[in-house]
Amino acid sequence: MQPDCAQGAIPHDDACAMNLAANPVLTETSVTTTAILVATHAATPGDEDIRVGALARWLDPLDPARPVLAVGERFLHADSAPWLSLPVVDHGRPVGSVSRYDLMQRVYIKPFGRELYGKRAISVVMHTQPLVLAADASIEEAGRYINAHIRQPITEDFIVVDQAGQYLGAGKVLDLLGALERRIGAHSLELEQAYRKLKSSQSQLIQSEKMASLGQMVAGIAHEMNTPLGYVRNNVEMTRDSLAGVQGVLAAYEQALDTMLTGADDKAVEQAIAGVDLARGSIDEGLFADLSGVLEDTVFGVDQIADLVASLKDFSRRDQVHAESVDVHRLIESERRFCEVPQIECAPAQINQVLLNLVTNAAQAIERSDGRISIHTHASAQFVLIAIEDNGKGIEPRHLEHIFDPFFTTKPVGQGTGLGLAICYQIIGQHGGRIRATSTVGVGTRFIVALPIRAVTHTNASEAS
Ligand SMILES: Nc1ncnc2c1ncn2[C@@H]1O[C@H](COP(=O)(O)OP(=O)(O)OP(=O)(O)O)[C@@H](O)[C@H]1O
Ligand SMILES: [Mg+2]
Repeated sequence: MQPDCAQGAIPHDDACAMNLAANPVLTETSVTTTAILVATHAATPGDEDIRVGALARWLDPLDPARPVLAVGERFLHADSAPWLSLPVVDHGRPVGSVSRYDLMQRVYIKPFGRELYGKRAISVVMHTQPLVLAADASIEEAGRYINAHIRQPITEDFIVVDQAGQYLGAGKVLDLLGALERRIGAHSLELEQAYRKLKSSQSQLIQSEKMASLGQMVAGIAHEMNTPLGYVRNNVEMTRDSLAGVQGVLAAYEQALDTMLTGADDKAVEQAIAGVDLARGSIDEGLFADLSGVLEDTVFGVDQIADLVASLKDFSRRDQVHAESVDVHRLIESERRFCEVPQIECAPAQINQVLLNLVTNAAQAIERSDGRISIHTHASAQFVLIAIEDNGKGIEPRHLEHIFDPFFTTKPVGQGTGLGLAICYQIIGQHGGRIRATSTVGVGTRFIVALPIRAVTHTNASEAS
């Protein structure tokens, strides 16, 4: 008798094949002589894993009392043609399997095998430890189970049972392998998508950290601009006042000249000359003499502001992925006592961010009035080294190994995100460089950044942004 799909058993029709969703905890147990892979857990709704049941097809099982010759004939039928073995089921439970190969080996090719065994029950020659899988087992677990139990050469298919161990149908090892391959393909696709997402969120992280740094830098620049702006303004006001006096003197001279040229009397000429003296007296002669120096200072101040604006523009440039040949000294504006170092290939905006993060950390660590941050450069055969050293509070040994971890911070809530050094680590890594820190509590901290002179992972550096 053939059970139908609606009754919960496995039909002939592939389209109606069973797909029992479950989330099993799998254990191996022994039912009489048969090792069965069973699922002991109830199904979890929403679990979309493929289960063994989805690979099962109904296959009329053999009765253990069936004569060997009848089983041989059964193998010649069209419905048995695709199968390597046929299940033997007694009272609804699988008790063995018979493979074409076994039948050939043990009966047909033996001298007088047909005569000796032909009329005997198939249970005499069947394999008593067939592959039996629970319908709700996952295909990964089934793959592991089959790998551990299948006989070599591969001559059998597997039997599928329900949770009570009742026969439901049979499945092919090749189908299982196919399903596993598809699963692996889907997993690698998922992995790739997850990797892409991670990369894009990482890049957003870098961008937001950059914006935070940019905010700090803007505040710093506004502060830096205040000084030159102050004296440029003073100088311009002084120059304006001086020019007003000069205009007065020029007007007095003009009037005196007109008086003389129009042939006025001596008294009028004297009065005009007195007017000139008065106008000249109102001018601050010293200031007037310094005017060119004042104007030079003004130009210097304006240049300083222009420099600051240029550095701000440099920092906020979005072409950060663009790698170019750079003199590291160009990246470190705060100190100029450097060794001769060769140009390096790097993404300057990114290295700029690293240096800014390190200098910011150093400045934040300094708690004394005679704080000092020193920056040194050095070149080896393949690397340019930048050392940033401070005499701040230092880093406790137990923290030192975590400082490059994302979100590790010792700063109070709201004051540090703990991303600064993680970003530095990532950027330097992408450049094929190294960053490390040494520190003594109460004495200070030194970060050393080593950047390769020739970009080694230039492509990665570009991708990461
Ligand atoms: N120069 C330094 N001196 C002392 N401690 C430091 C120094 N640089 C880093 N640290 C320690 O490393 C931790 C992590 O630094 P990181 O730059 O990653 O984050 P943060 O400075 O705390 O926060 P954020 O940079 O996001 O503002 C800091 O909280 C601090 O404890
Ligand atoms: Mg920081």
